[in-house]
Amino acid sequence: MPGKALKEYIDSADSTGAFNKEELHCLEEVLNDWHKDPGRDYILLSCLEDGLLSGFLVYGKTPMTEHSYDLYWIVVSPDHQRKGIGRRLVKEMEEDIMRSSSRGIIRIETSGRSAYDGQRRFYLSLGYRESGRIQDFYSDGDDLVTYSKTVQGGKAREDSPGHKEISNCSE
Ligand SMILES: CC(C)(COP(=O)(O)OP(=O)(O)OC[C@H]1O[C@@H](n2cnc3c(N)ncnc32)[C@H](O)[C@@H]1OP(=O)(O)O)[C@@H](O)C(=O)NCCC(=O)NCCS
Repeated sequence: MPGKALKEYIDSADSTGAFNKEELHCLEEVLNDWHKDPGRDYILLSCLEDGLLSGFLVYGKTPMTEHSYDLYWIVVSPDHQRKGIGRRLVKEMEEDIMRSSSRGIIRIETSGRSAYDGQRRFYLSLGYRESGRIQDFYSDGDDLVTYSKTVQGGKAREDSPGHKEISNCSE
């Protein structure tokens, strides 16, 4: 990923106000790792509206598991939120997993703070269920909440792609 494009992804995440500096730095490292070998540890799905980045999702196979995956990052730019782009990104991830595994367990971790009510409603609306909670994990009063969902694929047909660009994601 060229420097400018990487910046576009970081700027998009920053513009949501949902991530602090340390988290944005972690995202930058993840995108750099993805760039070195797309598809090895991380798979990137990008949504473009009229050629411009509107949202993205990073997921990957969970190390040391048979058929489990982590959704590591999902971001939809503020101007594009509540238009179905996040739902489309998650659906694309699930379909990729169903093509490459006969069964996939997807894990998502988020914060239990009230500022994250919308994010948790988003995951619930897509069929993810709370599967664990550790009190005060991030800091006092900020729980770690884990969501999960199992998707059933057919016969595994292909490897997950390293990157997929989807045009006009909004509903
Ligand atoms: C969470 C996020 C990815 C959702 O993306 P989105 O494109 O806005 O979501 P969608 O339009 O696909 O929403 C699908 C459904 O999720 C639910 N939902 C989404 N955002 C919601 C919110 N803020 N409050 C309540 N429900 C919400 C609704 O049921 C919605 O369906 P509806 O609009 O038909 O009612 C987006 O808000 C975002 O990028 N937030 C900042 C970054 C972030 O916090 N990422 C996750 C870190 S854990």
